[in-house]
Amino acid sequence: MCGIVAAASKTNVTDILMAGLKHLEYRGYDSAGIAILKNNVLNNYRQKGNVEELGKLLDATANSNIGIAHTRWATHGKPSKENAHPHIANDTIAIVHNGIIENYLDIKNKFLKNYKFLSDTDSEILAHLINHFSKDNEILDAVHLAMAEVQGSYALAVLDKNNPDKIIVARNGSPLLIGLGEEKNFIASDALALIEHTNRFVYLEDGDLATVSSEEVKIYDKNKKNIRRETKKSSLSLNSHSKDGYDHFMLKEIFEQPNAVKSTIENRIINNVVPKEILGPNAAEYLEKFKVVQIIACGTSYHAALVAKHWLERLAGIPCHAEIASEFRYRRHAVQKDTLLICISQSGETADTLSALREIKKEDYYVGTIAVCNVPESSLARECDSTLITHAGPEIGVASTKAFTTQLTALMLLVIVLGKRFEITPDLENSLCMQLKTLPDKIKSTLALDQKIAELAKIFSDKEHALFLGRGSHFPIAREGALKLKEISYIHAEAYAAGELKHGPLAIVDENMPVVAVAPNNVVLEKLKSNLEEVKARGGKLYIFADKKAGFKSDEISQVFEIDAPMNPVAPILFTIPLQLLAYHCAIIKGTNVDMPRNLAKSVTVE
Ligand code: M6R
Repeated sequence: MCGIVAAASKTNVTDILMAGLKHLEYRGYDSAGIAILKNNVLNNYRQKGNVEELGKLLDATANSNIGIAHTRWATHGKPSKENAHPHIANDTIAIVHNGIIENYLDIKNKFLKNYKFLSDTDSEILAHLINHFSKDNEILDAVHLAMAEVQGSYALAVLDKNNPDKIIVARNGSPLLIGLGEEKNFIASDALALIEHTNRFVYLEDGDLATVSSEEVKIYDKNKKNIRRETKKSSLSLNSHSKDGYDHFMLKEIFEQPNAVKSTIENRIINNVVPKEILGPNAAEYLEKFKVVQIIACGTSYHAALVAKHWLERLAGIPCHAEIASEFRYRRHAVQKDTLLICISQSGETADTLSALREIKKEDYYVGTIAVCNVPESSLARECDSTLITHAGPEIGVASTKAFTTQLTALMLLVIVLGKRFEITPDLENSLCMQLKTLPDKIKSTLALDQKIAELAKIFSDKEHALFLGRGSHFPIAREGALKLKEISYIHAEAYAAGELKHGPLAIVDENMPVVAVAPNNVVLEKLKSNLEEVKARGGKLYIFADKKAGFKSDEISQVFEIDAPMNPVAPILFTIPLQLLAYHCAIIKGTNVDMPRNLAKSVTVE
């Protein structure tokens, strides 16, 4: 959600900033801007639209050894040039900000009554507030004093005309890191922005401030005490940025799933046993103690949570609740003592999930916290007792695909480890491990449906609505299919547990309503078949993704797509694939921006 990149160097930084913004565009893409300091003047370039639009404003004169840049996902104030960052106060202080300043109106009234604001954003007050304090203070003190007034979340980079060789940064609740180079240093909200220039990163913690020049980096804690933070080497590669011959990141990421799932189980299954050590050293205590599991997550990660709940209860007999983090956070909940908390998040920076975790950690009902996450250095991974990394590799497409299937894979490993003290016997563990190991090949075979699904999309893409049906652990897969379709093709799609159809939604079924069904060969197959008959009887058009042994045949009302998904618990992972492809091909036909769908951003770091 919004991206920041900044650099201080002995040479020109404009290209570094523009390339960094391009890599960060998936975090927000409604406007972009760059401020550079040249001949003691702050030059500010801002544009509505994507980074390419911003590039049109820059000519050869737009060069400098220091600059800050931003790509925006609007929260306060519509997407426009005026609301784009950087914001400048008094021609002296330029800022870029990610996050939300909750008390910006109070700050305006308390300190900035006579200031003229040029945007509708909450962020602009930061420029004026720092400018206000900088009149009587050194710039670092001014930023420190300003941040002490702020309630909310921020990752902030500040350029000060009177301190032309350094950038001042601050972090609280929004990710920010410093990249270390030779005679140049960088700042970004995401390591992906800088991986062309360095793989050495220092991750700032909440409350930290830092000054970054081409020659040195100084970090301070919330009391402005000089501190050291560890330098970490990133394993990201330049390849993460490339579409590798695919037309879109989303398609590349869909086809990366066999390898991503393989990497997620690699070294975690030994002789068909999943060792508890996959959870790291802090796990021993809570593994012995927990009685109940609570899972929190948002969006696609919440769908993974719902599948995990089915697995935990059905395979391991462990009571489990799964809830959307933003709901969980703001309601009183009755927690059973010795609850284990699992937080699922691809990015590990989702504000709703993080703030729920932080609230929960204040209570003593929880015996431990586990992050299932794709980014090892993320806030979530750092704040939980244990982290189970999904080895999906960076996911750039806003619509989550390989992150979801690797979450499910990691969650199955987790279910096995947690279940050993409950109902997961060595035989069941053996069988689940075998099933997990078949997944990469089975996903590959499922991907072979691609062309057939592209044909189906031709029928689908002119529809305005669609219904998705599933039962049991495949109901969350139907929900995920509906979310994917909505997100990138803008077709209104809803998912129902198939048994619910007759309790209301059947009323909207007619020949114009395409109904997608997920039909594994499992204990509720016959029930599902009856539900689908109810659709047929109302003239609804059916598109059934069915296991090849489920006994469905195409006819004039229904079209069947066969999947080789044996009757076993990992089947939901396989049924996800065709639904991703359906959403992708519909979006292509509709001509939407597949990787950057309207109004959305990859990592939602505001509540
Ligand atoms: O990074 P997270 O997994 O915490 O993100 C949660 C949701 O924002 C995310 O899954 C979102 O729903 C995706 N765009 C879905 O494709």
